[in-house]
Amino acid sequence: MATVTFEHVSKRYGDVLAVKDLSLEIHDAEFMVLVGPSGCGKTTSLRMIAGLEDISEGTLRIGDRVVNDVAAKDRDIAMVFQSYALYPHMTVRDNMAFGLKLRKLPKAEIDKRVDDAARILSLETYLNRKPKELSGGQRQRVALGRAIVREPAVFLMDEPLSNLDAKLRVQTRAEIARLHQRLQTTIVYVTHDQVEAMTMGTRIAVMNMGDLQQVGTPQELYDHPRNRFVAGFIGSPSMNFVDMELSEGRLKGSGFDLPIPARFRNRVADSGARAFAAGFRPEHLTLEAAGESLVIRAKADVVEYLGNEELLHVTVPGHDADVIAIVPASHNVKPGDILDLRLPADRLHLFNAETGDTILADSPAQAASSTVATA
Ligand SMILES: Nc1ncnc2c1ncn2[C@@H]1O[C@H](COP(=O)(O)OP(=O)(O)OP(=O)(O)O)[C@@H](O)[C@H]1O
Ligand SMILES: [Mg+2]
Repeated sequence: MATVTFEHVSKRYGDVLAVKDLSLEIHDAEFMVLVGPSGCGKTTSLRMIAGLEDISEGTLRIGDRVVNDVAAKDRDIAMVFQSYALYPHMTVRDNMAFGLKLRKLPKAEIDKRVDDAARILSLETYLNRKPKELSGGQRQRVALGRAIVREPAVFLMDEPLSNLDAKLRVQTRAEIARLHQRLQTTIVYVTHDQVEAMTMGTRIAVMNMGDLQQVGTPQELYDHPRNRFVAGFIGSPSMNFVDMELSEGRLKGSGFDLPIPARFRNRVADSGARAFAAGFRPEHLTLEAAGESLVIRAKADVVEYLGNEELLHVTVPGHDADVIAIVPASHNVKPGDILDLRLPADRLHLFNAETGDTILADSPAQAASSTVATA
């Protein structure tokens, strides 16, 4: 069983607490993505799994075995880095076989594993080439091949796509996802790119400044971010945020004056907070009728044509930041147009301005019954 379990793991470098009290259970055969901004502790977490960093506090297990004091070479893991560092004077075949030769595996076994990996990665026709005769994407595949032939219980990957250009990144992203489907091996994958995280992860662990913020499937994180940080980090373009105060039963902020949707009424009152951040995603604003919705009157400032959609930077009088909206390009919005942007009430997120924690909404049934009770 190739589970990986962090139990209250911390990592200190002198005064720097790079990873704080991390508890995270990575399941067997799962594709777990660690994502977060630069310096949040992703690589450090991965290197602790690999055995390349000591653990300052806590317990780390691979399967049932506590590995805190197990040497890297005895952990049954393989790591793929951003810089693939192939041996330039060796052929692709020899690059992939090198680690197995060091481990003195029989030649027949080495050949079989290299041929299998080459087939999985579509590298069969390149086995006799040198790295300089390959494209960047092919080289990164050789680096993956070098990890695959070791048949590890867990793959660790640290930003393996970041040296590739945009197109190759999308291609190789799909290849790694396919690889995971075929091998059914646990993968822990580090990236700062939320699109990679969303498209590849079975589950995603979002980190910020050494702290684990939330763990969940891509959809859980998108639909139910636990706090403002996760809400702003997951999704592209980012969620819009507006600071609001509770005033006369409404939410008021610079340029905004919104009724509190029914499903938030109890929770806003219960929270005891007066200052909130309202959050709404650009793709949830619409120019069409939208049932119970909040209306935001705004002026189109910049219109970015994206083909099937257009991305609008709109200004709301009295509000100093742009609001971003994405609408079908058929609306053909022009700079200067006055728009009534509608936000379906169930797409609104509210956060406690002080703690950043989400204000959970009532389910529609709860909201309906409370409306009846107060009517
Ligand atoms: N060897 C080290 N000595 C001292 N501090 C370190 C060391 N390695 C990392 N750190 C610090 O620990 C924190 C976490 O670093 P880490 O490399 O894990 O970040 P990361 O999330 O991988 O960032 P990036 O996206 O930039 O790669 C950072 O503040 C970093 O400066
Ligand atoms: Mg890193």
